[in-house]
Amino acid sequence: MSGLFITFEGIEGCGKSTQVERLAKRLAKEGHETLTLREPGGTPIGEAIRDVVKFPPGHNTISPDTELLLMNASRAQLVQQAIRPALANGAIVLCDRFYDSSLAYQGHGRGLDLAKVQKAIDLAIDGIKPNLTLLLDIPLSVSQARVSDRLQSTDEIQDQFDESGTKFFERVLDGFHILAKAEPARFRIINGDKSVDNVTEEIWSSVQSHL
Ligand code: TMP
Repeated sequence: MSGLFITFEGIEGCGKSTQVERLAKRLAKEGHETLTLREPGGTPIGEAIRDVVKFPPGHNTISPDTELLLMNASRAQLVQQAIRPALANGAIVLCDRFYDSSLAYQGHGRGLDLAKVQKAIDLAIDGIKPNLTLLLDIPLSVSQARVSDRLQSTDEIQDQFDESGTKFFERVLDGFHILAKAEPARFRIINGDKSVDNVTEEIWSSVQSHL
């Protein structure tokens, strides 16, 4: 693996997608070959899985194990089809969520055994790990306000995660903090409750040391 793999994590409304886009533009402007991906999704197969996990057909309740496996099926496809080849070519790969989301949402959030979650992840990632993970940290109250604004001001509709309730998201947020604390060399915690420009600058200074 000769490229650079940067992942973005955080709860709903933390600003990941905006910041991934801004970082990709800046890196490209500086002449770096950059690939931007998202999870679940990022490949045609992964995007089909994304639809199923966000909007389960027939409003069926998706079981936590099914959710875990679908997330990691999307991930396996993304690793093999996009991430591994891009890194082998020396590109900078930016991914909006990666395996920390499975540990936070399916492990801490849904309450699945963390060792079991890790097994599914290991199968999917086949040894590929991020060099840097940016956790955009916002309080739950900010997340809830941003999600409700977004649902009112865009044509986006509520997915099954948005319906999971406050206790679930408290566990997910705690989960991200536990993960970041356990791997301080890989994680940078960015305060996502500042202005968009401030967050962009903080991310840029974290990334520069890896270039
Ligand atoms: P988002 O990328 O638009 O935030 O939507 C993806 C949703 O999927 C989000 O609620 C987090 C969730 N998710 C998991 O539960 N586990 C995972 O492994 C990943 C990648 C996402």
